[in-house]
Amino acid sequence: MKGIVKAFPGVIANNHVNLSVKAGEIHALLGENGAGKTTLMNILYGLYQADSGSVYWKGEKVHFHSPLDAIAAGIGMVHQHFTLIPTMTVLQNIILGLKEKGYPFIKITEITESIQALAKRYGLAVDVKKRVCELSVGEQQRVEILKALYRGAELLVLDEPTAVLTPQETCEFFEVLRRLKSEGHAVILITHRMAEIMAISDRVTILRDGSDLAVMNTQDTDPASLAKLMIGSELPERPVIEPHKGDAAPLLELKDIVVKKERISRLAISLQVYPGEIVGIAGVDGNGQKELAEVICGILSASQGTIQYDGQDITKATVYQRFRRGIAYISDDRHHDGLVLDMNLRQNLMLRKYKLSPYTKHGCLNRNKMDEFSSSCIGKYQIKPPSPGIKMRLLSGGNQQKAILAREISEEAKLIVACQPTRGLDIGATMQVRSILAEQRNRGAGILLISADLDEILSLSDRIAVLFRGQLMGVLDNGAELKTETIGSMMGGRPLAEGETTYA
Ligand SMILES: Nc1ncnc2c1ncn2[C@@H]1O[C@H](COP(=O)(O)OP(=O)(O)OP(=O)(O)O)[C@@H](O)[C@H]1O
Ligand SMILES: [Mg+2]
Repeated sequence: MKGIVKAFPGVIANNHVNLSVKAGEIHALLGENGAGKTTLMNILYGLYQADSGSVYWKGEKVHFHSPLDAIAAGIGMVHQHFTLIPTMTVLQNIILGLKEKGYPFIKITEITESIQALAKRYGLAVDVKKRVCELSVGEQQRVEILKALYRGAELLVLDEPTAVLTPQETCEFFEVLRRLKSEGHAVILITHRMAEIMAISDRVTILRDGSDLAVMNTQDTDPASLAKLMIGSELPERPVIEPHKGDAAPLLELKDIVVKKERISRLAISLQVYPGEIVGIAGVDGNGQKELAEVICGILSASQGTIQYDGQDITKATVYQRFRRGIAYISDDRHHDGLVLDMNLRQNLMLRKYKLSPYTKHGCLNRNKMDEFSSSCIGKYQIKPPSPGIKMRLLSGGNQQKAILAREISEEAKLIVACQPTRGLDIGATMQVRSILAEQRNRGAGILLISADLDEILSLSDRIAVLFRGQLMGVLDNGAELKTETIGSMMGGRPLAEGETTYA
């Protein structure tokens, strides 16, 4: 790609960007939230048209009018947010839109066999007859990749593929990438995780504010210099956690809570969170974390047990009542229940507050007050572009995440249930959010931090609870000498034995 320019109202997303990728190479694309990575890839894939600049494919200048052209040429893309249809089977998703030989008669057996052969060749194990909604996120991602490969992709664009994967799934995913590479495919990989870039990529291109800044061989660089190039300054300091103030009454107390979904018990737990402490929930995604968050916020109801919060029984309280009493919820699924994509940024920031004074008076919305509030959120979290009127859908992934954080974290929150709060954020923003959580804790809020990122849990938590198949394997005090292997084995289902030491 040479000299690519793409402007949207108020922002130049790509400003004369160059990018070159070789066959058999894994090329990482790195840049802050809103730097223009997804836009550049959407241009390559024919979703957007560049204002100027050209794309060359195998040495020839090409013009992709739509993804169909890009796919026909051999380019495949797996988007930052998946595009599979949940109620359709894997097979139906893979062949959706294709008119193969003999169409409209679809040769299911032949197609099934060729998909299975493809899956085997690249180590993408998945059951083609299952419906997509029954698959784990990691499996869904394999389907996305299979779909691209089935369409003959020689170049695969993967936009933040590992943001939703567990560490185990990431390892398997990297194996797939290595196999693709050895078969001569080229891969463009977008990720915010330096360790992944170092582990898997051959070269890195860094974007900053819409321009390409540098291209380098991965082995000639290191995470610190990459971060510095990307942000343009040193990384912010690690958050300071003041010692926990102890001996207060618990802010939140779950007593023998049981949550059932489709008659299967998904969660059976007792847990306390004190004011001024961060309780980290460690565990492989899908072991009841989402249910835990939702039962506290009132989205799911408990079939047994009680929830005490701030001196009251809130077991039967509604979501709104709990929110009014100071329970904030950072959802891990920004498109499903974190945001309303078709509303604008201001409206999304106001969702929790619009009914309250001073934003509503005598039943009328006060536009000035709402503007004041949204501007302060945009400023504090550096949401880009800083236009309250922009449709949520048009913000970059990381900026959407910042909007959720800005809405949920406020002075009124006494308990913050934070699910994957830094997923999709660049490292600068990640450090900022961690500091904000630490600040909230230091001012006295209780925080339940649910994260797949063990480093995040270790760097922020006062206590760490390990969840496995809906049950607690134990609760540990966090300390410099805490053994990560202990947590690792508990995450795998080994309960902490009585009197067992967890320190090195
Ligand atoms: N269709 C659009 N209309 C208006 N603005 C857009 C549109 N698509 C992207 N933008 C803006 O272009 C800029 C670059 O966005 P892009 O999604 O490419 O960033 P990114 O590098 O992928 O960031 P992230 O890491 O957060 O995903 C952002 O300011 C974004 O709001
Ligand atoms: Mg993006």
